[in-house]
Amino acid sequence: MSAAYERPKKVTTHVLSEMKMKGEKISMLTAYDYSLAHILDQAGIDVILVGDSASNVMAGWETTLPITLDQMIYHGASVVRGVKTALVVVDMPFGSYQGNSIEALQSAIRIMKETAADAVKMEGGAEVIESVKRIISAGIPVMGHLGLTPQSIHKFGTYSVRARQEEEANKLIEDAHLLEEAGCFGLVLEKIPASLAARVAKELKIPVIGIGAGNQVDGQVLVVHDMLGINQSFSPRFLRRYHNLFAEISGAVQNYIDDVKSGDFPNEREQY
Ligand code: KIV
Repeated sequence: MSAAYERPKKVTTHVLSEMKMKGEKISMLTAYDYSLAHILDQAGIDVILVGDSASNVMAGWETTLPITLDQMIYHGASVVRGVKTALVVVDMPFGSYQGNSIEALQSAIRIMKETAADAVKMEGGAEVIESVKRIISAGIPVMGHLGLTPQSIHKFGTYSVRARQEEEANKLIEDAHLLEEAGCFGLVLEKIPASLAARVAKELKIPVIGIGAGNQVDGQVLVVHDMLGINQSFSPRFLRRYHNLFAEISGAVQNYIDDVKSGDFPNEREQY
């Protein structure tokens, strides 16, 4: 946290907008359960994303597509119970908003009612703009997500960097403006060239949060299992690992197994 930054009692979409105006970078991480969300909130994180990456890191699926609306609501409600200050955003899962805008609104309303989260996030630009507008008109804050949008992985065919070519970069810029005009309070840009992300962040008034999008944006987001080193199988260039929790937990479990096998645990002070 920078010296000048005073954490508010509650981070709101308005607070994020002010942070962008002041040039204060926004910190965002994913969480999927009560306990970890509580730790992130106590540590001072600005935004917690209940990402549909839960499909990968919590459920072990290859992609984000299988996770259901009910499952996202379960994760969202668990996170909200652990958080006092951070803004909590819940991902709308694949299949809960692509059909039509009425279905999208119903899904968003379920998320807001059943999790008590602060906002939802949706992937896509022009293709989903009608749904974005309808959800916002119902009073639900929406965060956009462009660039590498994992719910479209079968269309892309690869997780490589997006929008390197002019045509795709121009579409991304147009989509970013469309989302801002529709009333989105923020935008995630995933795995795109840093220069393109910098341009979008400069052109938009709303905060732009990057993941694999360089540092000339208004904030950063990472999947918490990746940055803590719980998940060892994912090592893209943009990922900075802050810990090796896999090794830490594995070591602790091995010590426990040794203590149980040797009869050392429990000792006299650990029994009744
Ligand atoms: O689901 C997720 O974790 C995300 C982030 C990668 C931005 O959408």
